[in-house]
Amino acid sequence: MSKVSVSLNVNGLTHQVVVEPRQTLADVLREECGLTGTHLGCEHGVCGACTVSLDGVPARACLIYGVMAEGMEIRTVESLAHGNDLHPLQRAFMRHHALQCGYCTPGFLMLLATSLEANPYRDAAEMRELISSNLCRCTGYQNIVAAAEDYAAELRAERSAA
Ligand code: FES
Ligand code: FES
Repeated sequence: MSKVSVSLNVNGLTHQVVVEPRQTLADVLREECGLTGTHLGCEHGVCGACTVSLDGVPARACLIYGVMAEGMEIRTVESLAHGNDLHPLQRAFMRHHALQCGYCTPGFLMLLATSLEANPYRDAAEMRELISSNLCRCTGYQNIVAAAEDYAAELRAERSAA
């Protein structure tokens, strides 16, 4: 299949890559941009392991082609920490032991960072509804819920202080 040149804005940097039109965004991020933090589980939109932020909205990177993401602002899990300085959501995951094998974690982090930045004012039922879009085989979810609620409370406190 003939390849095409695509310019992708990932984590604030431009990646000029040459890809096959059939390559998913997840594959492009991992194989062409070297950003292997985005994981692949089911590869058909069920598990959420591949979740990234597209124009500020969580999206399954296995469900869109890389070429379709040209012109969009793409954020991956690599955007969260700055060196050893972890993102507050990552710190909340650490505090609450919200991961075990960690395979699902990048997807949960991008789902929650993106969604809670947009709206940290969710009640417990809405938080569980949000988290239900992603699958975790290890944790039983309770600690992920606790970490998400902790981070949302932090965001709410920041906003009420501003
Ligand atoms: S790998 Fe994309 S949803 Fe499972
Ligand atoms: S921590 Fe292992 S799949 Fe979620």
